Amino acid sequence: MIVLGIETSCDETAASVVGPGGVLSDVVHTQEVHVAYGGVVPELAGRAHADKIVTTVQAALDRAGITKPDAVVATQGPGLIGAVLVGLCFGKAAAAAWDVPFVGVNHLEGHLLSATMASDGPDFPFLSLVVSGGHTTLYLARGVGDYEVLAETVDDAAGEAYDKVARMLGLGYPGGPKVDALAQSGNPAGVALPRPQPKVRPPRTPAGRSGIRALDMSFSGLKTAVRSALEADRSLRPEDVAASFQAAVVDVLVDRVTRAASETGVSRLTVAGGVAANSHLRERMLALDLHCTLPPVSRCTDNAAMIAHAGRLRLVAGQRDPLGVAARAQWTPGTL
Ligand code: KG4
Ligand code: ZN
Repeated sequence: MIVLGIETSCDETAASVVGPGGVLSDVVHTQEVHVAYGGVVPELAGRAHADKIVTTVQAALDRAGITKPDAVVATQGPGLIGAVLVGLCFGKAAAAAWDVPFVGVNHLEGHLLSATMASDGPDFPFLSLVVSGGHTTLYLARGVGDYEVLAETVDDAAGEAYDKVARMLGLGYPGGPKVDALAQSGNPAGVALPRPQPKVRPPRTPAGRSGIRALDMSFSGLKTAVRSALEADRSLRPEDVAASFQAAVVDVLVDRVTRAASETGVSRLTVAGGVAANSHLRERMLALDLHCTLPPVSRCTDNAAMIAHAGRLRLVAGQRDPLGVAARAQWTPGTL
């Protein structure tokens, strides 16, 4: 089955064709319009997707050497609703016009399963840490569609913290790759920063607040500690701040996957999502005494190959979605 995948949940317009032998084409257009604003502007993202969707899909079909796929899949959420709608509506319309099956894919499930695209990818069950701009969640994946959330951030996502620290350092957007590059020449012990551990809370408190698990994470205090350090000492070297911040984030993520592996007895691990492109994170994860598989850097940040792959697994298992499926701004894979 040869599948066309479409991804438009944030600021990448992407299309890819995936077949039984793997990825046949993988086209990603990153929107430049947001750079001037220092972050993604939702309305501009939707308009830019509408401008680029036809040429991006056509390029993916041309590069794969096909004119019509056997099925179409598109990101259904979570994401910026106006952005998701463009790719989802286009995908549904294309499936209707070609008279082929359609499946809507959860963007996070795309990241979660991205390491299984490679021939040496992990077998189930495996731990999957999805670290992106909007989410930081550790899953236990038992099979396609069978995911347990073991831990998540209680406030900022790791990528969001990277982007905010980049802004404090005047590095611009997107911040993650810029902090990564600057940290290469910095001292990771140059600035003392906390490794936050949120206080555990039972699942339901009398005040109605949701619980906090022992493996949950928090990155907003770390971001505030970076701001305080910069305000307290104006002579701090930006490269030391970047390296120290990065060391703190990666220490927390390494701690959680190590503890999850020992608690669950599952030693296969993947890390995915934009922050999995981080050089220090990759180094540290691969050095752990676990079977860690990382997608290539180009498949960590948003792409349509991971969406086509996740949708293809569902299609091969016999799943189809009606063309009436709605875009979802919020949607955790634990509820799939
Ligand atoms: O998965 P992704 O492309 O989009 C979302 O689904 O959110 O992740 C984007 C996030 C951004 O916060 C970006 O700054 C971060 O991933 N990122 C990185 C690196 N490359 C991208 N963070 C740290 N180091 C990197 N090399
Ligand atoms: Zn993503």
